[in-house]
This record gives sequence, structure tokens and C-alpha cells, in this order.
Amino acid sequence: MDLNLKNRKVLITGSGDGIGKALALAFAKEGAKVAVCARSQDRLDSLAGEIEGEGHLFQSADLGTAKGVETFYESAMKQLGQVDVLINNVGAILKLANFFELTDQDWEDSFQINLMSAVRLSRHCIPSLKQSACARIINISSIAAASPQDVFPHYSAMKAGLSNLTVSLAQTLAPDKILVNSISPGPVWSKSWEDEARNSGSDFEQTKKEIMEQTGKTVPLNRMGMPEDLAGLALFLASESSSWITATNFTVDGGVTRNPF
Ligand SMILES: NC(=O)c1ccc[n+]([C@@H]2O[C@H](COP(=O)([O-])OP(=O)(O)OC[C@H]3O[C@@H](n4cnc5c(N)ncnc54)[C@H](OP(=O)(O)O)[C@@H]3O)[C@@H](O)[C@H]2O)c1
Repeated sequence: MDLNLKNRKVLITGSGDGIGKALALAFAKEGAKVAVCARSQDRLDSLAGEIEGEGHLFQSADLGTAKGVETFYESAMKQLGQVDVLINNVGAILKLANFFELTDQDWEDSFQINLMSAVRLSRHCIPSLKQSACARIINISSIAAASPQDVFPHYSAMKAGLSNLTVSLAQTLAPDKILVNSISPGPVWSKSWEDEARNSGSDFEQTKKEIMEQTGKTVPLNRMGMPEDLAGLALFLASESSSWITATNFTVDGGVTRNPF
């Protein structure tokens, strides 16, 4: 199925690793021009060496700040000249902690990166999206939005906010034919899980194997997700084939949540 994504201009946040990187590679493979960002330039340079096609942007920026979001947006517009698809992917747990261990600053940091990055970048991109013949915003939320966990209440609450924003923004932008949806992944092996395994103090490969096996047992499809597992749905939602789908959350979790409605 040709999704007709050639030369579409796609902004993807938090894309030096994990899901964002997999999406950047997948969109570029379809012929899209992507603008990606992360804080570490070396991860972006590594992605630049792997990606197909030309004319992409690899911008270092901290999206936890208004200035960083503006820098990314302005560089993307300079490079691509237009936004057709905005993928608000950046997000982070930042601290594994229960309610009593979280400070006001922890809540504030979580708010900035998990919710305000999407609010600010959407605000910047909407004027350009209005000019696009096939405009899309895709927010990467989490199954933690609807099934919160007490080891990261701040993150779960912010993801609930992002899923909620998806629906109100879809309504706001429907007259402009800008479709807004969210994707909620289940457990996907990525840099954050890798960092956890590295920081455990035990042998990395052994710890990785244990985490993948144990977490995989909680998934009906019997394995953790890989970043590439999110790509098919994101490509479809960015395409003309999704033209009557908006204000919807899609769960991609190997069957973890099993919510029929
Ligand atoms: N992996 C999962 O199990 C899972 C499950 C549900 C939902 N999600 C959601 O899926 C999205 C992607 O997660 P992931 O696990 O694939 O991420 P990841 O592998 O941890 O990668 C995160 C990317 O975002 C960048 N980043 C982090 N903070 C940033 C900041 N302040 N400014 C700019 N870039 C920043 C990181 O690079 P730098 O560190 O260099 O900045 C990195 O490239 C997130 O929204 C996450 O909440 C993930």
C-alpha cells in the first residue's frame, strides 16, 4: 500500500533514540523529509548516518524549555519550509518515585517535557499545518495515561493530560482539517529502559535479558515492544488513508490493556 508520504514535511520530537528515531527512519524510508531533535548531538549524528534520503534536519534542542521548542521549530521551518505532520513524541518518566518522594520540582519538570513541549510546538506549527493539504498531529502518549502506576504518578498524570489535550485540540482544529490523534504504547524497549539496566549496577546484558523476559510475560503477545512496532500505525495516521479519523487514541501494547472500548 503506497501511503503517499513522499516529500511530506514531518517534525518528530525526541528522536535521537527509541520510538522517535524509529519513526524518523520509517518516514524517511517512505520519502518524507523529517526534522528531528534531541539534546545530544552525537545521537543525532548517528541517526544522520543511518537515515535514507536528503534534506532532513538534525537539531539539538532542549524541548523542556520554551526557548528550545522555538529553536527547533524555527530551524525546522528554515530547513523544510512547511509542516505537514507534527509528531509530539518527546516524553520521559525522569524519576521512578512514589507520590511521597516527588517534589514540586519533579512535577514541574514532568509537566514541561511531557505536556508543555506538545502544547508549545503545536501552537508554533498550527499556522503552517493550516496550509497543508493533509495535516496531522500525532501525540505519543502512554498506556499509563489510562492505567496509571504508583511508581511514576507525575508521568502518568501528564500523559493523561496529553491524551486529553489530543481530543480537545482535535475538536478545535477540525474546521481546518487538521486531524489530531494519540498513540499510547505499552512497554517498548528503548533508551530509558536501557539506562535503567545500565544503572542497576549488575551485568548489563544479563539485566536487559531479565527485564525483557519478565516484562514480556505481562504481554499477551509474549514480548516487549520494539520502537519499530509503532511505525506502521504512525505512517498510516500521517497518510491520506486516515482522513476520517480524529480525536482518537490508539493503543499499541501487544495486548496489555485489553480494553474493548
Ligand atoms: N518506551 C516505553 O516503554 C514507552 C511506553 C509508553 C510511552 N512511551 C512514550 O514514548 C515516547 C518515546 O519514548 P522512548 O522510550 O522511545 O524514548 P527514549 O528511547 O528514552 O528516547 C527519548 C528521546 O528523547 C530525547 N529527549 C529526552 N528529553 C529531551 C528534551 N528535554 N529535549 C529534547 N529531546 C529530549 C532523548 O535524547 P536526549 O536525551 O539526547 O535529549 C531521546 O532521543 C515518550 O513520550 C514516552 O513517554 C514510551
